[in-house]
Amino acid sequence: MKLFIDTGSVAEVEEIAAWGVLSGATTNPTLLAKEEGDPGDSIRRICELVDGPVSGEVVSEDARSMVAEGRALAGLDDRVVVKVPFSEEGLAATRELASDGIPVNETLVFSAAQALLTVEAGATYVSCFMGRLDDISIDSEAVLGEIVEALGPNRDAQVLAASMRHPMHVVIAAKLGCEVATIPAKVLKAMLAHPLTESGIARFADDWKSRPEFGKWLRGLVEESTAAQR
Ligand code: E4P
Repeated sequence: MKLFIDTGSVAEVEEIAAWGVLSGATTNPTLLAKEEGDPGDSIRRICELVDGPVSGEVVSEDARSMVAEGRALAGLDDRVVVKVPFSEEGLAATRELASDGIPVNETLVFSAAQALLTVEAGATYVSCFMGRLDDISIDSEAVLGEIVEALGPNRDAQVLAASMRHPMHVVIAAKLGCEVATIPAKVLKAMLAHPLTESGIARFADDWKSRPEFGKWLRGLVEESTAAQR
């Protein structure tokens, strides 16, 4: 499963992209509204940083205006994917954008029935929000599993698990066979943590320090190797 970052913050993408684990990003109007500066500049910079698909969302409610906004967003960078909220108008806009060769991320898909319509309209990504389902006491794992099953193993569209609130959402999405999870920086950082990793690193460091001559040997080895590469 590919990992995208879910943010409107260039600073967050800069920080997490350095880990080498990101394949793309998603923004939405809420996330971009929290940031200073021009949203187009942010989207372009995020495209450069992740060098993969970056979703930018339309905000109009009628198909014609959604298509116009979608074409404009797609013009920002070749890596932009147009995010279209699910609705009758959204489906019509998706069909038109997809026919133009513009990839669409259909968002706010909360059922297998909606997912089936989304795929027929030509969307590249089907975004289902796990956290928001759980918030209203609907089992997000069951809904996401039904979407994956209904679209089948040879689906054209990719199932994108969104609204990730904790690392287990990410693990569940991967186990269900989702192609992508889009994850806030806070949850990506939580995925790093394990007490045995932290205590293990501390123990290796302490044991190595107990042999100062080994530390000297390693520093010498690094110097030789660096000099040989010059
Ligand atoms: C992603 O594409 C969505 O916009 C996002 O994951 C929504 O997350 P939230 O429910 O935490 O706002």
